[in-house]
Amino acid sequence: MLSIDLKGRTALVVGGSRGIGASIVEHLCKAGAFTVFTHTGNPAHAARVDALMDAIQAEAGAARGEAVDARSGSDMRDLADRVAAERDLDFVLVCNAGMNRERRAEVETDTEWDDAITLNLGAAWHGVRAALPHMLARGYGRIILIGSSAVYDGGGGAIDYAAAKAGLSGMMAYLCRNYLKKGILTNIVHPCVIETDLLKERYPDGQAKAKLAAQIPVGRLGKPSDVAGLVAFLSSPWGDFICGQEVLADGGRTFFAR
Ligand SMILES: NC(=O)c1ccc[n+]([C@@H]2O[C@H](COP(=O)([O-])OP(=O)(O)OC[C@H]3O[C@@H](n4cnc5c(N)ncnc54)[C@H](OP(=O)(O)O)[C@@H]3O)[C@@H](O)[C@H]2O)c1
Repeated sequence: MLSIDLKGRTALVVGGSRGIGASIVEHLCKAGAFTVFTHTGNPAHAARVDALMDAIQAEAGAARGEAVDARSGSDMRDLADRVAAERDLDFVLVCNAGMNRERRAEVETDTEWDDAITLNLGAAWHGVRAALPHMLARGYGRIILIGSSAVYDGGGGAIDYAAAKAGLSGMMAYLCRNYLKKGILTNIVHPCVIETDLLKERYPDGQAKAKLAAQIPVGRLGKPSDVAGLVAFLSSPWGDFICGQEVLADGGRTFFAR
């Protein structure tokens, strides 16, 4: 039987306490990676972190969650340095932390714009900056940036969100150009309509959600594991010949909307 093998790798998942990130953490652990994930430390989500850790431990996986603000470059560098010192293994970085607030561009404030860019684009920069020295030291790295189908259709509800996620494409191009030959492969996974808190905030009532699900060619909303399986694949030796790609996990929605 074919499998995904991540033994001998350390994974750092930025924003891994719930939703897509938590599923990524579970998948990477199940595949054998020692996985450290970040979250905000928000007490409202503490039970989710505990449940995630229980699920991982039940499968004998190795993981740890740390409350580190993904918007802080120094804190992210400190975390990556500690993780690399703890286990000097090939490094996988998944930049997943993100947020999405629906608002019209004509009333968006400068502060709202700055906050959204700081998390949706800036956190990826801080993750990359923190992980690169360790990847270069080993001549190996896998970087997976979590984008959004908003970069293709302007969806997602906010100009800042579409712009920040599109910025990941430029980041990936730079990383491929400068670090591919040093063993560091970067790709983007663009989710869409995945059932998480982020989606629930935009579609709180059941009717609106059912209408949304009806628009998806495969006939359902996405599950966090629809994204996580792809991330695990790209992190593994199956992804060793794949670089500079943007893959949609959207049930065919973007293609049919063209
Ligand atoms: N769901 C979708 O349909 C969809 C569609 C397109 C793109 N995406 C993208 O996929 C990614 C995950 O989305 P999701 O739906 O799983 O979101 P979610 O359920 O809202 O989870 C967001 C995650 O990011 C973490 N996070 C937020 N701010 C952080 C910070 N400052 N520092 C560290 N961690 C932080 C959260 O930690 P806490 O638990 O501590 O808050 C949580 O783990 C995001 O980048 C999102 O833009 C999702």
